[in-house]
Formats: sequence, structure tokens, C-alpha cells
Amino acid sequence: MSTRTLDGRVAVITGGSRGIGLGIAAAYRAAGAHVVIAARKAPGLAEARAHLLGIEGDGEIHTVVANAGEPDQAEACVDTTMSRLGRVDILVNNAATNPYHGDLLDLDLPRAEKTVRVNQYGMVAWTRCAWRASMAEHGGAVINIASVGGLVVDPHIGYYNATKAAMLHMTRQLAYELGPRARVNAIAPGLIKTELARAVWEAREDILTAALPMRRLGTVEDVANAALFLASDASSWMTGQTLVLDGGATALPIGVAG
Ligand SMILES: NC(=O)c1ccc[n+]([C@@H]2O[C@H](COP(=O)([O-])OP(=O)(O)OC[C@H]3O[C@@H](n4cnc5c(N)ncnc54)[C@H](OP(=O)(O)O)[C@@H]3O)[C@@H](O)[C@H]2O)c1
Repeated sequence: MSTRTLDGRVAVITGGSRGIGLGIAAAYRAAGAHVVIAARKAPGLAEARAHLLGIEGDGEIHTVVANAGEPDQAEACVDTTMSRLGRVDILVNNAATNPYHGDLLDLDLPRAEKTVRVNQYGMVAWTRCAWRASMAEHGGAVINIASVGGLVVDPHIGYYNATKAAMLHMTRQLAYELGPRARVNAIAPGLIKTELARAVWEAREDILTAALPMRRLGTVEDVANAALFLASDASSWMTGQTLVLDGGATALPIGVAG
């Protein structure tokens, strides 16, 4: 199979300045795509662009300051992409927020609203912009980065996980609504070694991995490989689905998990 599976395609990636989003941008660049990375902070985006320039590829790299939870900023990012590159073939809804740790019943409304606004409404708003500007006419692939937490119960992050479960359902709903022009799929990662999750894995990686069938935590590259497959024609008959990448965490007998 050719390694340039995304030759000339245009990909927009939210939360593309570090972690999983940057890993996906790197994989797409190496596969021949033009990449547009969006995040809230310009310095992080500039660093990410420099990193991406170090990866062999002839596609353009653009950065856009945009908050995933602000629909007008989604629209501005897609407009910029259209004026510079003429299309949006791939959208990765990757940015998320997790402002509340604790039991569900202690959750306060402002934190709940922020979580829904970025994780849930953001996914719809960015998809709507990409669809109306380009995908309705030219087709495309949408990839939603959810979480394995959207499938199982996890202490302390129940509300964040509820927004991830909503993403999995909306992935199916949008697949139905946008087919056959656009495909919509999700990835549900388990624990991945990024900054976001550092507090969870750093001090107890040995304990966390001992019971996992694959005996290691996930890497950004694990998720990027799946996102490459979902963006490419190799997955052309796949829509509305979720790829679970968790080292086998959800394949453990009852009583062993956790
Ligand atoms: N790491 C894990 O274990 C894990 C597991 C399951 C699912 N996930 C999911 O994977 C995705 C990426 O996580 P990560 O671990 O790569 O996080 P990360 O390392 O903290 O990176 C987050 C990225 O998103 C950007 N960002 C954060 N809030 C944003 C917002 N409101 N609008 C736009 N950009 C925003 C950040 O840049 P700025 O700060 O400049 O905005 C950064 O580029 C998230 O959806 C997360 O829920 C992660």
C-alpha cells in the first residue's frame, strides 16, 4: 500500500498543537495531506508548525487560533482553510476539555456547560462548518476523538465521560445524516501518554499496565495510525463506527478491570 494515502487532501485538526492532535497532523503530513491545525494558543501552534515542518512532506501547513467551543471561531477556521486550500476533505474533532474531577452529583453548572460546549457542541459546530463549506459537495471524512470512558464507568470523570458517550452516539447520527457524501467515525482511546493524562499515568505506569493484555499504555502514534486509516480510502465502506484503542482494557474479565 502506498504511504501517501492522503495525497493532496486537506485536513483540519482541532487541538492540533500537541498530544494526539499533533500526532495525527504528523501522520497526515507524512501521508501527503495539507494540514490545518487549530488550538487556543498561538505559541503552541507555532511550535507545532516547526515540528511538522521537520517531517518529510510537500503539503502546506497552516495554523489557526480557535477555541473548539466557539462556533464563530470554527467558522473562521473553515473559511480560512477554504480561502487558502479550497476544500476540507478531512475534519478531526480532537480538542476537548475536562474542567471537573469528582462525583457527578457535586458537579456545578458552569463546569458542566463548558464541558458540553467544547466536547459535544464543538463537534457538531465544526462538522456543520466543514459540511456546508465543502463536504456536502465534495465529500469527506470526519473523525471524532472520543474516549473509552464513553463506554465504561470511571471514578471522578463521569461528566467528561458522558460527553464522550454523546460523541459516540452523535458519530452514528451524523453518519446517517451525512452519508453517502461524508463518512463519520470515532476513535475511543484508552490511557494515552500525553500531557492531558500525565497526572493519571506518570506515578503509576507499572500498576496501570500490569493487568492490560498489551502490558503498555497507548502512544500518540497508536491513535494517529487509526486516524490515518479512518481518513483514507482504506476505510471507504466504514461509517458510524468507533475504533476502541485501549490495549485491551475493555477486554478484561469482570473483576480484573481497574
Ligand atoms: N490522553 C489520553 O489519555 C486520552 C484518552 C482518551 C481520550 N483522549 C482525548 O484525546 C483528545 C486529545 O487529548 P490529548 O491527550 O492529546 O490532550 P493534550 O495533550 O492536552 O492536547 C490538547 C490539545 O487541544 C488543544 N485544546 C485544548 N482545549 C481546547 C479548546 N477549547 N479549543 C481548541 N483547542 C483546545 C490544546 O492546545 P491549546 O491549549 O493551545 O488550546 C492542545 O493542542 C481529547 O479529546 C481527549 O479527550 C485523550
